[in-house]
Amino acid sequence: MGDSWRFDEREYNYIKEVLDSGFASGTSGSMNTRLETAFAERFNRAYAVTFNSGTTSLHASLWALGVGYGDEVITTPLTVISCMNAILACNAIPVFADIDPDTFLIDPESIRKRITRKTKAIMPVHLYGQVCDMKRIMEIAKEYNLGVVEDCAQCYLGTHNGRYGGTFGDVGSWSFENSKHMTTGDGGIIACDDEELATRIRKLSCQGFRNVTAQSGKVRVDKKLFQNPSYKRHDSYGFMYRLPEVAAAMGLAQLEKLEYFVLMRMAMAYRYHVVLRDCEWLIPQRHSYGKDDVHSYYTFAVKFLHPDVSWVEFRNKYVSLGGDGIYAAWTLCYKEDSMTGVQNMLGRMNLYIDYDISCFNAEQIQPQLMQFTTNQGSFSEMDKQQDCLDKTVRYFT
Ligand SMILES: Cc1ncc(COP(=O)(O)O)c(C=O)c1O
Repeated sequence: MGDSWRFDEREYNYIKEVLDSGFASGTSGSMNTRLETAFAERFNRAYAVTFNSGTTSLHASLWALGVGYGDEVITTPLTVISCMNAILACNAIPVFADIDPDTFLIDPESIRKRITRKTKAIMPVHLYGQVCDMKRIMEIAKEYNLGVVEDCAQCYLGTHNGRYGGTFGDVGSWSFENSKHMTTGDGGIIACDDEELATRIRKLSCQGFRNVTAQSGKVRVDKKLFQNPSYKRHDSYGFMYRLPEVAAAMGLAQLEKLEYFVLMRMAMAYRYHVVLRDCEWLIPQRHSYGKDDVHSYYTFAVKFLHPDVSWVEFRNKYVSLGGDGIYAAWTLCYKEDSMTGVQNMLGRMNLYIDYDISCFNAEQIQPQLMQFTTNQGSFSEMDKQQDCLDKTVRYFT
């Protein structure tokens, strides 16, 4: 067994169970079912469906909500490209709402301003581990009868008003990519409460197999029937987005340790907060709209506002002192080079982004953002990172 802090005998044992089964039910998924049941229970939702990524889970969720040709879906531009691509994969138009300059999260008032007759859904992103203002977002969604897919890829066990991110909208979607609180290498999962919606999402995730249900991905329910030449397997359109059993085994083990992973990230974030409490030029992501909000600190994000020192200079000093590195925020989705191809693709479908795409706050803040890592595996590693930040801040003060 290796010595990674993320994996122990649980992962090895569950993976061994899958291998020992001889893959007899390689496409039937008992590990997937176990992971889905445990995940739905943990997040107080009725159904969960595993995916091979947190991008495909977003795509299937939007699709299952009926997002299609020419519809508009509102999301933030300060997010991974997956959000925009999932919308485009539905032949729909991404519409970007601005962010709050202090929380860096999508601003409900900006969402409201972007709503048109074509708006079909909202996709808020619980960025860096903090849940968006879901109370207001759900009020808007209700008022305009819009679907809501919460992107919780970076937010496990974060809360708003005492409720987990991923439990407000029609669907919550998480990623198991390797940087996330819990991982299967790559993978994802959705959770929702509506049986019909869960069934549609499941069918989209596995070629529209007739036999799958909201609860189960088993495609061969009755062998005699399945092996009959006249049997028609597919009753709807779908893709192949399933999570492999070995990955699901890993996910089940990781889920059992989720509290620990989240608490470790919170502990690291707390240390960064202590260092920065009197610093006027490194301003942490404003946390919370109320006392019942919990930030799950996928990463510790700050605005870098030093008047005389550059972003790169600060990072280089931090790294030279032994810091883990500092991640910059993604380029805003609509400023990516892929946008030219996107506009061409939409044009070929007679679809156009014909609104003022720019988001003032997001454009101002994106170059200032610094993300400090929170995935240290031990308290001594945390001490080291805290000390490096402390020394770097003192050096430039
Ligand atoms: C906010 C956000 N949404 C979606 C995704 C997509 O997840 P995946 O990489 O598993 O496709 C990620 C992860 O990279 C993410 O950070």
